[in-house]
Amino acid sequence: MPRRLAVNPDTIAEAAALLKDGAIVAFPTETVYGLGADTFNEAALRRVFALKGRPEDNPLIAHVRDADEARLVVVEWIAQADALATQFWPGPLSLILSRHANVPALATGGRDTIAVRSPSHPVARALLNAFDGPISAPSANRSGHVSPTLAEHVLNDFPGADDLLVLDGGPSEFGIESTVLDLTQSPPVILRPGSVSAEAIAAALGEPVTVGKPVRQSSSPGTSPAHYAPRTPLDLVARDELLERLSSSREPMVVLAIGWLDVPPPHRLIMMPGDADLYAAMLYDSLRKADTTKSRRILVERPTAPGDMWDALRNRLGRAASST
Ligand code: TXA
Ligand code: MG
Repeated sequence: MPRRLAVNPDTIAEAAALLKDGAIVAFPTETVYGLGADTFNEAALRRVFALKGRPEDNPLIAHVRDADEARLVVVEWIAQADALATQFWPGPLSLILSRHANVPALATGGRDTIAVRSPSHPVARALLNAFDGPISAPSANRSGHVSPTLAEHVLNDFPGADDLLVLDGGPSEFGIESTVLDLTQSPPVILRPGSVSAEAIAAALGEPVTVGKPVRQSSSPGTSPAHYAPRTPLDLVARDELLERLSSSREPMVVLAIGWLDVPPPHRLIMMPGDADLYAAMLYDSLRKADTTKSRRILVERPTAPGDMWDALRNRLGRAASST
């Protein structure tokens, strides 16, 4: 089992020392938990890929304290990056720029670009301060699985990783991964939508941005359709078709409905909130809970409400569903 530690100055110092030694540390961010390694330590990076079962061509995000630290990993800290960092950092926005030659190619899956973000979570920031350098961290789940929003989720995904330290900082506030924005393209492209919206980015930049479509041969593997999926097959279903789907199945199913739904046995209800931010904060834990019920199928009510956060959620739900 990994070692799970409550957060205090001693455990932060221990985690930073472990990172310096080339070990892997899972830590909370405001979006989801990350599986961190020293950005400049190739052996540590390799361990992150191996532990996740992640293909070594899928690039990692480098977590930094601020723009000055971001400059260590990019060729040029361009004006667009500076404008966005001023407005959205620390926070859930990852910026793709050209990778500095000093950063091992493995940190970016062999690409000459690198994603950087400055997390706002106090534990992530305390760790970055104690470590005093960039920390590369993918979401701390097995590759392809639902991202972790609790320390417990990390423990569940890596039961055999005795050398893994997990800093337990409680639930992640946002609950879905950062917006990933590619600034090496013109106009800039959102590769993964998140809580920082296209409109907010365009306003900060004073220029339009494009929203990339999920495609199988993608320039960003996390944007491929089958990703972020629970183990149980998942269908996205319109609200008015949920009851019909349930009554036509004798195999137990779990339903994530928005608000109350009178679910007949043997099926089960996980009631989701109608507020997008609350929904996001609960989604991954709910999908993981649905997985543990050993139901044959998960039905998720297709959200229809407008809004950027709902769009980001539809993006994640679409990918969770497409593997079925
Ligand atoms: O909120 C988050 O972003 C979390 C927390 C831990 O910071 N991290 C996260 O990392 O979600 P990960 O590795 O699970 O997802 C990063 C996504 C992947 O889809 C990856 O392919 C894409 O960003 N990405 C990273 N660097 C890239 C690059 N240089 N070019 C294109 N896509 C990149
Ligand atoms: Mg991930």
